[in-house]
Amino acid sequence: MKIAETLKALSAQVTQWKQAGLKVGFVPTMGNLHQGHLSLVQQAQSLCDRVVVSVFVNPMQFGPNEDFEHYPRTFQADSAKLNDLKVDLLYLPSVDEMYPNGLEQTRVVVPDALTTLLEGASRPGHFDGVSTVVCKLFNMVQPDVALFGQKDYQQWLVILRMVQELALPVEVVASPIVRDKDGLALSSRNKYLSSAQRAIAPKLNVILQEVAMAIVSGNQNFKALEKTASQRLLQAGFDDVDYVRVCDPNTLQPAMSKQEQYVILAVARLGETRLLDNTLVRVVPSFEGGLERS
Ligand code: PAF
Repeated sequence: MKIAETLKALSAQVTQWKQAGLKVGFVPTMGNLHQGHLSLVQQAQSLCDRVVVSVFVNPMQFGPNEDFEHYPRTFQADSAKLNDLKVDLLYLPSVDEMYPNGLEQTRVVVPDALTTLLEGASRPGHFDGVSTVVCKLFNMVQPDVALFGQKDYQQWLVILRMVQELALPVEVVASPIVRDKDGLALSSRNKYLSSAQRAIAPKLNVILQEVAMAIVSGNQNFKALEKTASQRLLQAGFDDVDYVRVCDPNTLQPAMSKQEQYVILAVARLGETRLLDNTLVRVVPSFEGGLERS
């Protein structure tokens, strides 16, 4: 596996691949890699001839009171995992390489309707930081295909919209959430959980599935479902619930009744750790005239 720390070294390699007609896949990450990231890499390898992974903890997407300084940086372990998977190139830019003029630079701003609700409500400016760094990484790596996890569902929609509206020449692919055996969605932040908190954490997915089943069974009282789910999370031992929302999967606006698809998104806290999860629900009429989940 090659490691490039500068745009110059990255471009030299990618240019060679492009001249040889090879298809380049890209997985942007902030490191601290787990099986969720590695499955994105494997999917990229199945779609492309060469795969670039970036590890860059992006200061622009962290708020002043967030965990930028303490975000786990695990370079040795990350590079060993990527090497084992035979990734072609690891791009490891410094903050100066990415932002030579500092953070007061040109930004990519996706419209508020998608970026100021849910995660954007508690993390103002977060998605501007994400879309700016992802746009910049796309321009640097010049991938044909880029892969993102569905776990960060709102991030995925923001990136999709940026790519469509700026006509960026890259195909973006979403990959299903990877879960531990007990259903907890894998996340770099799971490391912060104590063993008692870790035992509570999988209930987030259990309660999301309960909401999904209720919708599939015909319950359209989304506000009541959200409220019950929040109460159930608190009873299960979560310290706080930022939100449980049943939304339109394309706009993230509150769901209307009788949609074919919904996304249920939730964030609950265990101590200082915010756990994010979501589930997509597709409701199709069954032969008996009832509803079933696909
Ligand atoms: O999901 C992440 O790890 C980050 O938000 C991303 C897409 C790598 C941008 O920094």
